[in-house]
Amino acid sequence: MTAEHAMLRGVGAVLHSPRFYDAIVWFALQGRERRMRQRLLDLSRIRIGESVLDVGCGTGTLAILAKKIVGLSGTVCGVDPSPEMLVRASAKAARAGVEVRFENAAAQALPFADSSFDAVACRVAAHHFADVLTAVKEMARVAKSRVVICDNTFVSEASEEADRARDPSHVRNYSQPEWHSFFELAGLEVADERFMNRPLEIQPWLDRTQTPPADQARVRDLLGDRIRDGWMDLPTLVIKGVAAA
Ligand SMILES: C[S@@+](CC[C@H](N)C(=O)[O-])C[C@H]1O[C@@H](n2cnc3c(N)ncnc32)[C@H](O)[C@@H]1O
Repeated sequence: MTAEHAMLRGVGAVLHSPRFYDAIVWFALQGRERRMRQRLLDLSRIRIGESVLDVGCGTGTLAILAKKIVGLSGTVCGVDPSPEMLVRASAKAARAGVEVRFENAAAQALPFADSSFDAVACRVAAHHFADVLTAVKEMARVAKSRVVICDNTFVSEASEEADRARDPSHVRNYSQPEWHSFFELAGLEVADERFMNRPLEIQPWLDRTQTPPADQARVRDLLGDRIRDGWMDLPTLVIKGVAAA
């Protein structure tokens, strides 16, 4: 396990190096990450004056964008179990001149009353959660009307093993049918969903987690012909649920 990751029992994988996280996301993914965030925000139809919760907010990029949409009359809260992420998120929000509340909490136990937020969003964090179903139920509980989750989807057991060999903080990616069943069990009806393919360059992806050379070879081996010319596609699902009637 790298210094950047720690597996906390009952919580999931909490990332502890926020500056490193922002830098790698920026260098590796640039415009693609912006498009993915935009797609999530489009699907969540956040409006001026609404209240929004960002679960697994990391360094707060999505929460800050959401606050710019809801404006002065709206409120945004970001939660993450990593204190380091929250410190950086607060500093970024202050620099952006927006007021966002950040709290230390895990997705499986959200410290909010039922129906506290108009919309709940969660971006590329669910694959770190120790208990994703409990987390989706919690998001449904604190949402008044909608939950939008975006994450990489399951490809194969070999790819899951590759993800864990590269980054021990990875728990699991889920398939579209699995997401549908989590939503159904949480009392959410799937209202909309979109697939995206995010191209990913393999070597920088391995370097980011400081994966040792022997493990790098194993990861490449496990990914097999998913890798083409040093790149692979990351299938990603953005899924929106509304309270089932
Ligand atoms: C890959 S980062 C994504 C951060 C942010 N959502 C973004 O889009 O940039 C995953 C985040 O999930 C957080 N995380 C891990 N386990 C969690 C849990 N059980 N509940 C909430 N967040 C968690 C990590 O601390 C980390 O900040």
